[in-house]
Amino acid sequence: MIPQSFIDDLISRVDIVDVVSEYVRLTKRSGKEMLGLCPFHSEKTPSFYVSPDKQVYHCFGCGKGGGVINFLMEIENYQYIDVLAALAKRVGMTLPDDGATDELANKRQRMLHLNRDAARHFHEMLMSPMGVTARDYLAMRGLGKEVITKFGIGAAPDSWYLLMDSMIKKGYTKTELIEAGLAKNSRKESSIYDHFRNRVMFPIIDVRSNVIGFSGRILDDGAPKYLNSPDTLVFNKSRNLFALNLARKSKSGMMILVEGNIDVVALHQAGFDGAVAALGTSMTAEQARLMSQYANKVVIAFDSDHAGKKAALRAIPLVEKTGMEVKVVDLGVAKDPDDFLKKHGHDAFALLLDHSENHISYRFLSLKSGYDLSTDEGRVAYVNAATTLLSELSSKPEREIYSVRVAQDVGISQEAVQNEAEKKYRARIVRQRKDYEKKVTKPREAVSKVLSKQFKEKNADSVLAEEGVVRMLIKDPTLVNVIDEMDFTNDEFTSLFLKHVYEMITKRIAESKDTGEQYILPELDIDGASRLTKILSKIEVLVFGEKTLRDYIERIREEKSKLAKFELDRDLFFEIREAKLKQFRETEK
Ligand code: UTP
Ligand code: MN
Repeated sequence: MIPQSFIDDLISRVDIVDVVSEYVRLTKRSGKEMLGLCPFHSEKTPSFYVSPDKQVYHCFGCGKGGGVINFLMEIENYQYIDVLAALAKRVGMTLPDDGATDELANKRQRMLHLNRDAARHFHEMLMSPMGVTARDYLAMRGLGKEVITKFGIGAAPDSWYLLMDSMIKKGYTKTELIEAGLAKNSRKESSIYDHFRNRVMFPIIDVRSNVIGFSGRILDDGAPKYLNSPDTLVFNKSRNLFALNLARKSKSGMMILVEGNIDVVALHQAGFDGAVAALGTSMTAEQARLMSQYANKVVIAFDSDHAGKKAALRAIPLVEKTGMEVKVVDLGVAKDPDDFLKKHGHDAFALLLDHSENHISYRFLSLKSGYDLSTDEGRVAYVNAATTLLSELSSKPEREIYSVRVAQDVGISQEAVQNEAEKKYRARIVRQRKDYEKKVTKPREAVSKVLSKQFKEKNADSVLAEEGVVRMLIKDPTLVNVIDEMDFTNDEFTSLFLKHVYEMITKRIAESKDTGEQYILPELDIDGASRLTKILSKIEVLVFGEKTLRDYIERIREEKSKLAKFELDRDLFFEIREAKLKQFRETEK
């Protein structure tokens, strides 16, 4: 945990106008506000405001808004901690220790520098006369200049000492080179040599733009085809993905998971900027979780050979567990995505993504792979499991379609499969109905308590007044005396969000801390920050602050009394309950 005081201090040293200006052309408006074209939605006339006074931004077009932290999280797709690191770097502060000793942190830092210098060296080599073989190779693979620069691709020429000499000249030690996985000890003590030789070099870059390792592809038919950095202080193969640094910025909201580095680069070149690859290992749960931080959908496009299909089946459950939507593409006769692009082009691949198999198909496929369908026992067990899976599909046409497949898998009639599935489906519905009945035997009072809670959460008039309370307190913390005087408490909020913000403000007031929105916003997620910015953009005449705040509180209390009347309507609810039960019974027929 980074202490709040550090974050406050950090924010006070950053100017949001400087940060936003790196992404948006801002022009000065009357007064101090700056105006530009919103980076979060497309527009022709500017409606994106930045306020140097309040250190916030707000778009009147799309409603996004917040402070500098929210801005960087949204535009860079950064995690909170990454933003803090980036801002700290910017103003020359050091993030407080996260447990590592200073020495270790130093060593890491040196290694990252070394990696960056090595990446630079490889890239220069690629562009130099010594890089001609690698350049020809990349050209042969159809990779152009632009994507080579974008990925920082480089070359390790066929030499034993090039990198080593160059890095030692820069002041790195042999031990550092070995520890970074860039050099190896030769059998004869005391001499070392370059680990990567005669290879095209792909730097592996993490989401904070650090070069953490390399993957090198050989230029001829030699072995191994790929050589990767070993795990080091800064690199862990199973916790990183190739090109995640680029893919996390994809506006598609989708990651395309492939097997090969070349596939990744080729896809990015073709405009599919969500492509990533596991780093020469099979996909891990950690990598799935990592993807889920930046996308809500993954399309798996592994090689079309048997190994690729098997790997896809293993990856699906890992991805599913993170809650992301998973789809799988069938590349047909193409070997891998790169080959597919070469054969059929961009549009065909886009189509393929659209038509990728949903995970239901794949659930059946993966279920099937667990049974030996050449034996009777295997077939019986498979049909049994498959009909259970079928019975979990709530749409009848779906159950029908997939029962055809299951029937084909084992060579029995579709009717037999479907009858069995429908039987299980009805049993499931009966179970659901019974569960529902058990639930709804709750006493009336309990039900009406739930209902009033729902009512409270939906009460828009009260929420408007609650927004007013929050707004007034942020603008003028001295108004807290009205709160005390009226005995207003946080329990009177119906909106959980506003209650949360209110608690943050009152806590800060109690600790005599500034309540400026620039200090409140960073503690909210992006939706929360946008919402609060919008709430705060409403103008209030502060001269009558006390009266306004009193009015808001009275309004909240008035709305509450309306609740009593609402409770009279609860009988309606019991009617609905009966109707629902009836519906269940009909489905069971
Ligand atoms: P592939 O053999 O499919 O490589 O391995 P590729 O990237 O598609 O390359 P081309 O198109 O044949 O030139 C897929 C991935 O597995 C890892 C690499 O990360 C590679 O990108 N791998 C492969 C290794 O780590 N070591 C190897 O020897 C081979
Ligand atoms: Mn491949």
